[in-house]
Amino acid sequence: MSFDPNWLETRYRFDSSARKNSTEKKMLDHFSSLANINIVDIGAGTGNNVRYYASFLPQNQNWLLLDSDSDLNSQSLVLLSQWAKKNHWSYQLSENELRFQVATKTVTVKTKLGSLLELNKLVDLAKVNLITANAVFDLFSSLQWKNFLSQLIPFSLPLLATLNYSEMNFFPFCEINQKYIDIYNQHMTRKQKFGKAMGPDCAEQMSHVLTQYNYSTITGQSNWVINTKENFMLHFLIGFMEKSVEEMISAPLEKKAFQQWVIKKRKEIEESRLEAKVHHIDIFAW
Ligand SMILES: C[S@@+](CC[C@H](N)C(=O)[O-])C[C@H]1O[C@@H](n2cnc3c(N)ncnc32)[C@H](O)[C@@H]1O
Repeated sequence: MSFDPNWLETRYRFDSSARKNSTEKKMLDHFSSLANINIVDIGAGTGNNVRYYASFLPQNQNWLLLDSDSDLNSQSLVLLSQWAKKNHWSYQLSENELRFQVATKTVTVKTKLGSLLELNKLVDLAKVNLITANAVFDLFSSLQWKNFLSQLIPFSLPLLATLNYSEMNFFPFCEINQKYIDIYNQHMTRKQKFGKAMGPDCAEQMSHVLTQYNYSTITGQSNWVINTKENFMLHFLIGFMEKSVEEMISAPLEKKAFQQWVIKKRKEIEESRLEAKVHHIDIFAW
């Protein structure tokens, strides 16, 4: 599955206002004695985690952005340099590194193409202080998560996994909304080549395995509150539901009823009557 950079850009603002919670504070406290921090951001997309943390992490930062999507991975340094420019920060961009200055801090960003499931083959984890992952693990199976985590254990590496999907609601409430949201959630956990993704249960399953591996954990909520004026975001959500639910229903009458529901939701968006809340859970583990 490849992710549309416009979608990643759209969700950035919602992610940013959702994730000020106790996990973030705990992470900042945990590293407060470090003058420099080496971070690997896995499933980095176009670098939203750098955009979010660069200015308020107090240390100099070296980021490595790992993603298995070559388009996103190759766009990220250019997009981040445009963002640094917009913030009036001095920056230097070379073919494989971006370096910018935020107040007294120096931030360097490099990219790496590859799968987080092979992290220890791609990165020297002994030199890393923190792994970050935003909106990534609900896509992975419980077994993949276990295998991923087993790569961090030899290095006792802390992990900050934010915006793990758990539930969605539309307002005004109506029971038929919940029926299609349930089908959407079932689509997330449908059988795929690699098994079943953790989907909405992801934070619970992740926490369980982290505890088994003797990690200490703290969790916090990072919910999107999407008001009636956020047409662009609401259209993205209905578009995702349309694609996923269509794949799960086959009876012609059911399909027709679902298409009518989609048309109704789009009308509600255009009439500024639809709101949504999307629930997520953040985990910091150390
Ligand atoms: C929902 S996007 C989140 C992107 C980014 N973290 C953000 O917050 O904007 C999920 C990302 O995980 C990446 N991804 C999916 N499977 C991966 C894998 N096996 N290894 C590395 N990245 C992967 C996708 O390419 C995509 O960029």
